[in-house]
Parts: sequence; C-alpha cells; structure tokens
Amino acid sequence: LLSLGALSASAAYPEKPIVITVPFAAGGPTDTVARQLAQAMQKSLKQTIIIENVGGAGGTLGVAKIARAPADGYSLALTHIGMSTAPSLYRTLPFKPLEDFEYVGRIVDVPMVFITRPGLPVKDFKELVSWAKAQPKESVTLGNAGIGSASHLCGLLLQSTIEVDMNTVPYKGTGPAIADVMGDRIDLMCDQSTNTTSHIQAAKVKAIAVAGNKRISSIPNVPSAADAGYRNFDISVWHGLYAPKNTPKAVLDVLGNSLREAVKDPDFVRRMQELGANVSAGDEVTADGLRKHLAAEINKWAPLIKKAGQYAD
Ligand code: MLT
Repeated sequence: LLSLGALSASAAYPEKPIVITVPFAAGGPTDTVARQLAQAMQKSLKQTIIIENVGGAGGTLGVAKIARAPADGYSLALTHIGMSTAPSLYRTLPFKPLEDFEYVGRIVDVPMVFITRPGLPVKDFKELVSWAKAQPKESVTLGNAGIGSASHLCGLLLQSTIEVDMNTVPYKGTGPAIADVMGDRIDLMCDQSTNTTSHIQAAKVKAIAVAGNKRISSIPNVPSAADAGYRNFDISVWHGLYAPKNTPKAVLDVLGNSLREAVKDPDFVRRMQELGANVSAGDEVTADGLRKHLAAEINKWAPLIKKAGQYAD
C-alpha cells in the first residue's frame, strides 16, 4: 500500500510549490543563477519554485539542510564548486557530498574576476601584485563568502600564487561583500561574472583581470590573468541541482527533464550570456554528469587546499 502511495505521489508530482535552497545570501551570484533557473523550470513544472537563502559557513549550512530534508522532491539545493572543496576544508562536514544526495544535473559554469575597490591605486594585475606585496603583512582586505565558497577558493589561489597572506573578510554571500568593495571598505575580491558584470559595466568597482585564461564576453575589455602572464588561474564555477538521497526516481525524472528544458530556455540562455556564464549542455545536465564532475573536482582541489593549509575547523 505504501509503495502504491509513493507511486501515486510521484505521479502527481509536483502538486505544491518546490523550495530550492541557495546556501548564500540573496543578491549574489548563486542566488542570481537560482532565480533565473527557477523562472525557466516553472514553465515545464507548471508549479511555483520558491528560492530560500540559507547563508553561512561558506555555503555548507544550506547544503546540510537539504541533506536532512524530506526526500519528496519539494526541497532541493542549488550550489556550486564549493560542494567539491568543502570535504577538504571541513573535517566535520555535516554531509557527504557523494553519498547524501541525488544528483539532478549541472546548470552553468561561471568565470571569476578580480575586482578592487574604486579608490585602490592600481590599474592592472601586475600593479595589484606589486601593491599587495608592498603592504604590511595580512593588511590587504580580501572579501569572500566564507570558507568553502568560490570566492574563498579563488582567494586561496591568489594568495598562494602571488605569495601574499591577506586579511580575509567573510560575508554570507558576495552580494553583501561587493557592496563593501564598491564602498571602498574592503580592498579586493575574486567574484563570479554573474555578480560582477553589472557593477563593472557601471564602473562601481575596478575590474583588474579575469581569473582565467580567456576573456569574458560580457566584459570584453577586461584582460585575463593569462594576459598578465599568470596562467594557473583557471577557476570555472560550475553549478548543480541536488535532491535529498532516496528521492523517488519518478520525481527525479520529472526534475531532470525540467532542468534539461530550462538550460535550453531562450530567456535563461540569454540572461546567462549577458552575465558571462556558460550554460551546461548534453550529458553535463544529467545525474551521472553532475556526480562524475563533483567526484573529479573533489580530487582536483584537495591538493591545493592541503598545500594552503587553511581549514575551516
Ligand atoms: C561564492 O561562492 O563566492 C558564492 O557564490 C557567493 C554567493 O553566491 O553569494
């Protein structure tokens, strides 16, 4: 009788609003991707999607909430590369990324940009490096969204590459953090183009370089770190959609099909392109594609984090 009940529930799914938890503050890059994706997925699901922002601990609090949520398809998590760095950074992580979830699929890959406050007396990456080296130890303020965020990972890579230890200032997301960069309250940050593009185009922050080997279509005048001779910044912030372990297969099929339609939705694709983001396609937007990439990324970032020796707990 129970399985029949589960069967009928899945058959009617979704029959009430779905909540997608974003583990960072509203107004940041992850929130932006989630709200755009929700608009696209609503078209095929014919159901309201509510975005819930649960910030803190570099995004791990919000993800932990979904690891414990009912496996009925009405509580999902949308997060990014931080899912792959958390296992190396948190020795007491309250979830196992490769065991505690069902994997719906990948969504977008987002490049990152080094930005500084408007008043900082540097105009390119080389000047930023020499300015930072000339400052007293741990006096340069570097904003991020907490240990385990993409901005944290990029900041680690920056500090180890230019050999400058900075004073990192954590926020619940880079939405609030970028306000302090614009306000000349913190010196610099590495943040995703989904958050920085509009502020760079409005000249509210200084865009120093793309944290990658090629330029970004939404901000074509910003040189890449590779243009300045630094080729090891190749961070691409991939994003995935997750459900709690043991969510029924029939529900996961509905979600997967809706996601695969959404990443082809013209409004979604156009908005992501305007923000310099690369929409996932093909096998990436499958359960297997997401889980395989997550496993590869956990292995990829572990050595860097070990070398940096910075842990959350
Ligand atoms: C980060 O990892 O830096 C987050 O994406 C920031 C955010 O989404 O607010």
